[in-house]
Amino acid sequence: MPNKTQAMPRKILVTSALPYANGSIHLGHLVEYIQTDIWVRFQKMQGNECHYVCADDTHGTPIMLRAEKEGITPEQLIDRVWHEHKADFDGFHVEFDHYGSTNSSETKEFAQEIYRRLKAADLIEVRSIEQFYDPVKNLFLPDRFIKGECPKCHAKDQYGDNCEACGTTYAPTELINPYSAVSGAQPERRNSDHYFFKLSDKRCQQFLREWTRSETLQPEAANKMQEWLGAEDENKLSDWDISRDAPYFGFEIPDAPGKYFYVWLDAPVGYMGSFKQFCSLPSPAGGKGSGGEGALNFDEFWKPDSNTELYHFIGKDILYFHALFWPAMLQHAGFRTPTKLFAHGFLTVNGEKMSKSRGTFITADSYLKQGLNPEYLRYYYAAKLNGTMEDIDLSLEDFVARVNSDLVGKYINIASRTAGFITKHFNGEINYDQVDNLPVFLQNDESLRQEVGKLYEAREYAQVIRRIMKRADELNVGFDTLKPWVLAKDPNNHLLLQQRCSLILHEFKVISVLLAPILPVLTERIAKEFFGLGRKFVWDDAIKITERINPYEHLMTRVDQKQIDAMIEANKETLVPPPSPVRHAEAQQHQIHPPPNPLSPKGGEAVEILASGGTSTVPHFAKGGRGGISPVAETISIDDFSKVDLRVAKIVNAEHVEGAEKLLKLTLDIGEEKPRTVFAGIKSVYDPEKLKGRMTVMVANLAPRKMKFGLSEGMVLAASGETPGLFILSPDDGAQPGMRIK
Ligand code: 2FM
Ligand code: ZN
Repeated sequence: MPNKTQAMPRKILVTSALPYANGSIHLGHLVEYIQTDIWVRFQKMQGNECHYVCADDTHGTPIMLRAEKEGITPEQLIDRVWHEHKADFDGFHVEFDHYGSTNSSETKEFAQEIYRRLKAADLIEVRSIEQFYDPVKNLFLPDRFIKGECPKCHAKDQYGDNCEACGTTYAPTELINPYSAVSGAQPERRNSDHYFFKLSDKRCQQFLREWTRSETLQPEAANKMQEWLGAEDENKLSDWDISRDAPYFGFEIPDAPGKYFYVWLDAPVGYMGSFKQFCSLPSPAGGKGSGGEGALNFDEFWKPDSNTELYHFIGKDILYFHALFWPAMLQHAGFRTPTKLFAHGFLTVNGEKMSKSRGTFITADSYLKQGLNPEYLRYYYAAKLNGTMEDIDLSLEDFVARVNSDLVGKYINIASRTAGFITKHFNGEINYDQVDNLPVFLQNDESLRQEVGKLYEAREYAQVIRRIMKRADELNVGFDTLKPWVLAKDPNNHLLLQQRCSLILHEFKVISVLLAPILPVLTERIAKEFFGLGRKFVWDDAIKITERINPYEHLMTRVDQKQIDAMIEANKETLVPPPSPVRHAEAQQHQIHPPPNPLSPKGGEAVEILASGGTSTVPHFAKGGRGGISPVAETISIDDFSKVDLRVAKIVNAEHVEGAEKLLKLTLDIGEEKPRTVFAGIKSVYDPEKLKGRMTVMVANLAPRKMKFGLSEGMVLAASGETPGLFILSPDDGAQPGMRIK
């Protein structure tokens, strides 16, 4: 356990859960990565040696089938998704020290070594079990790949583990008329040998009871563990099935040809694999050297008596894996066990489960593509997060209000309204030496820094924000009371003006330091540019004097509700019909009578596994027709298409442009406050008078173009062919200006 008084920097290894390599990162995922990244940045700012590793979780049946469906190899799929995930994380400033893949030689070696050691400890057993088998695909079927009629409410097409219509849970064998969601075939029951980790062994039970008592878990998680473990004289744990039959994309079990490690066996081992890779880099960023003496030492972090700390940030749905299987595996294979598990709750959007039809299943990529600042979301999540497993809600209305009022209206406002007095009258020089209550202020800085530090450590970020915003409020009130604009008018008051404004700006620096883990990019700009430090903030900057400032430059824009609306629209458009046969994590891949997982993700942050059919990149050529037509352009994805914002536009005015041979000037209403001007090359075929009042179609998000005759703010669409003529488009009757065309 960390010793708060120790002088030596702590050595800490931190992980977030590994995302599956077949789905996009969405705002639900980001709760965890942002929460972890804030904590890691805080530790690093403190001067602790803290390493943050993660990886893609690449194995299992869904990934294998997804690749097959796309006509690529699993390796190609996981490579592509790795780059997508990495770009999303970079976009939200989630700064891993290393981001790997479970499909690595390092993870394979550790998985096999752990298995060998567990086997040597007599904790592995082989048993024959009965499972559903797809005779067409020649594949044993995980529960989520079996569908049928609910035995209770008779809803059709329900999954093999629970009914989404009535909520009942059952074994897949209870489904009426079961069928394979992969091929549609009627599944057969077949026996095969499976490898089990003997969690029911009394050594595992004893160890887990002790581990649960050692404050490694949050109180709610410890209670769950007690429930799973049962009373002292009970033996409630079942052995864990760690093998899957070929065909399976994963690591083969060393002494069992045709048998593969179940994805959940090697997933947490990926934490070790990724860290091992990081240690092997020539010069691990954040590590200490370049391979030789002083380089990052894997064993120092993973040996049983390690003095380092190991923390796993996870969602509450995967507590079962991290609190039972993982520590038991580590303990009995001779590795250290985690110092603590930090489990968080799920994300709801506007008070409801994220939903594709409502457009609230928001991908990280779509958020960034709207031009929304990632630090808005980091701030909002921080304002909601605490150290418990409670769910958090992203209310989009509250998001806009909070970002605008707290971040822009309170925090940034302090600098933007105060800086001018110091730069204009005092050449940027900060001087608060003679302020009568200065000692009180400086003491307050230290106590605020201490208080906020403790809150960060405990992951009580909502309280961090409350504390800091309280100070921001005080500073804004201080500014209003001071009335610097009045003081500035009288030279006799200039010293007072300088001292008071200096103190306010010094305090702005203090809260900027304290906000740095949450707003790393904004505060880095503030440190480097505004305070001229030439580096980002460190924690001690909160108690250092401030000497000068540079002129204030715009730091942050208010969030615009229109961007949120557009993001929701864009996410509605990326709907992938029909509902996929497999929507859940491999966590659901049980044998026929699974031990119930009390926290299984029943519809929580569902992972879209077989979301859509493959998209071909081969250009399609339209055939036949009267003499043939020019080749149809290369196939694009729905995402590509949704980048074009097509709107119904009403031509409220059309006129000739003096000196222009081909252009008409159109004034277009697309439901915005101010109509748009568009110059269209349709003069040869249209009389402007006849266009007035007509509806047409325009590209509304084309970058404005400066033309000889003025700014063109979009483009109207027109058809043309080999034969003469140019035809602008019209929507059907009833379409209104501003309606989106999709
Ligand atoms: O639930 C999930 O998304 C898993 N891919 C998490 C794995 S975490 C760790 F064990 F690897
Ligand atoms: Zn039902």
